[in-house]
Amino acid sequence: MDLPEGRRVVVAEYGADPMHAIAEHTSIEPMPVPDPSALGPRDVLVEIRSAAVGWVDLLMTSGQYQHMPEPPYTPGLEYAGTVAWAGAEVADLRAGDRVLVDGFSAGPRSHGAYRRYGGFATYGVAPREAVIAIPGELSFDEACNLLGNYETAYHCLFARGQLRGGETVLIHGASGSTGLAAVHLAKLAGATVIATGRSEAKLAAVAAQGADHTIHIAGPDGATRPFRDDIKAITGGAGVDVVYDGVGGEISVESLRCVKFGARFLIVGWAATPFVARGRGQRGAPNANQLPTNLIMMKGLSVLGCPTAISTVEDPALRPPRLAQILAWAEAGKIRPHVSHTFPLADYREAMRAKWRGDVLGGCVLHP
Ligand SMILES: NC(=O)c1ccc[n+]([C@@H]2O[C@H](COP(=O)([O-])OP(=O)(O)OC[C@H]3O[C@@H](n4cnc5c(N)ncnc54)[C@H](OP(=O)(O)O)[C@@H]3O)[C@@H](O)[C@H]2O)c1
Repeated sequence: MDLPEGRRVVVAEYGADPMHAIAEHTSIEPMPVPDPSALGPRDVLVEIRSAAVGWVDLLMTSGQYQHMPEPPYTPGLEYAGTVAWAGAEVADLRAGDRVLVDGFSAGPRSHGAYRRYGGFATYGVAPREAVIAIPGELSFDEACNLLGNYETAYHCLFARGQLRGGETVLIHGASGSTGLAAVHLAKLAGATVIATGRSEAKLAAVAAQGADHTIHIAGPDGATRPFRDDIKAITGGAGVDVVYDGVGGEISVESLRCVKFGARFLIVGWAATPFVARGRGQRGAPNANQLPTNLIMMKGLSVLGCPTAISTVEDPALRPPRLAQILAWAEAGKIRPHVSHTFPLADYREAMRAKWRGDVLGGCVLHP
């Protein structure tokens, strides 16, 4: 094994918010090749080819995400690459194998020894259990956008939302990484998808990715405009069976007027109100979104919190069938993450800013 010195991005301390953290508290520094003699017999050294730049990666830099790796740390929850070295007890992987690394068990979203190996780096080290052969024809860029996005969509739509073929689902934030995965999975399940967004160009792309109907919900001043009449027109007055809400704020409240009696309302995230928690890792949620109880009551709504990672820690049995199904769909070519933006590692700040601004459709990827 003769590998050159690498580089990694380091978050030295939490910022007041992600843009502040990225400008003031991140840097790129040399990364020595991890020394195999210091690694365990079930460890795998991965030469990283692609690392996803996720919303969670952004929120983590200011300690505004629920899981807080202690700085200094290297961002990059999910990455893909080739095996450079594997320990003596790893019989089923060879140097050069194309793999993705499971962000639950390695990288900044994990606990323990592998947390320091984030994907915004030339090399990562992960335990064998976290290393998965890239399914089907997926590229490295696609592979690093598979698990987190599709597992979230699966958990929300199916484990929580019980979405069935023939139902109609309203997906907010459909152009995002998890939102686009939700569009793909809802269509696979045979549901009708109504997608919302703030840009005609991105909505056209979301339609090309499978959404049956799209609604532009930004008014001329950029604020959310009422869209209940659009939903009525599309559903013949019936409303939707399920709302997948990854956006929060005004959109959530308006959505309560777009549902059938007894609908399921999935709280996935709040991309429009990212400062729910205090910055600099101070915890607390002074700016939490709120929903009116009168509408929840009168519509007989089931409002369901859908934290994929936390639910999986609480009930580990949720994961094996979910993971097996997603890998099988990817193997069969039935799902393929969409990636609109790629950047060299040196441009990590620009990549994170592009994600924050919402320039991206689906995945944003760094190439170490
Ligand atoms: N429940 C879970 O387990 C779980 C897992 C991962 C992520 N999440 C959360 O889910 C949310 C979406 O994550 P993601 O990875 O899909 O994010 P993303 O890729 O950044 O997508 C978010 C989408 O929200 C839309 N949006 C609407 N209003 C916005 C605003 N004011 N600012 C920014 N975006 C706005 C944007 O679409 P348009 O530009 O087309 O409007 C954007 O594409 C986040 O809150 C994230 O923390 C939850």
